[in-house]
Amino acid sequence: MAPVIELAPSILSANFAQLGAEAKAALDGGGTVLHLDVMDGHFVPNITIGPPVVASLRKALPDATFDCHLMIENPDEYISAFAKAGANWISVHQEACVHLDRTLHLIEAHNCRPAVVINPATPVHTLDNVLDFVHHVLIMSVNPGFGAQHFIRNSLKKVGDLVRLREARGLNFRIEIDGGVALDTVADIVRAGAEILVAGNAIFSHGEIRENAQVLLGAARAAASTGSPPRLRRVATAAPRASKSEAQRRRT
Ligand code: DX5
Ligand code: ZN
Repeated sequence: MAPVIELAPSILSANFAQLGAEAKAALDGGGTVLHLDVMDGHFVPNITIGPPVVASLRKALPDATFDCHLMIENPDEYISAFAKAGANWISVHQEACVHLDRTLHLIEAHNCRPAVVINPATPVHTLDNVLDFVHHVLIMSVNPGFGAQHFIRNSLKKVGDLVRLREARGLNFRIEIDGGVALDTVADIVRAGAEILVAGNAIFSHGEIRENAQVLLGAARAAASTGSPPRLRRVATAAPRASKSEAQRRRT
């Protein structure tokens, strides 16, 4: 059965002077989760929003699911404020948390869904000991801090690793991907196994927001239902490509 694919519009590329209206347009276009990027200028080289903006959006969109992606140092100090502001899901970076298990349980204690994020250079196995209780894992497919960057293709392999780990251990976490999700990358992304697709630039930076969301989600769902494996980059020294049956086996 094809996985349930969800679109999570990232407001990072929205016009902040019209944030409520633009967020609503993205949800009207089929987004089911609103992705809110929180940056502190320390963990990442950029500064964005804090709890007051989340609280204002919550008033404007009382029923939306808010996915707060904390790209901040010392996240424990702010979890309560984001929960009070209206977060539903809170994700923290493995690289920012000395006591990751404690931080994730703190999120849970605030009645939010706990999730963990890894940067492009962080291996999936660093999450082995939290996978049994997180709501989702977020794979960064760009280095965090900015919208509209190029998709890092190695993240497809990391998504595949997570799919296999989840199956081998009989776990339930969902797999989210963030960075460079667009019409030219989305098919490979969903075929690799990502289920929650964060997209900022592809939705908010040109044309009609509602239509952009519809088209991107349509392309993702079409790719999920056809389900052929992601294109692998050809490298002269690489081992021969797997046969079709081997590649298909790896996807399951
Ligand atoms: C980057 C953010 C992303 C960003 C993705 O650090 O976490 O959520 O908005 O942007 P696009 O979709 O433009 O690559
Ligand atoms: Zn994000």
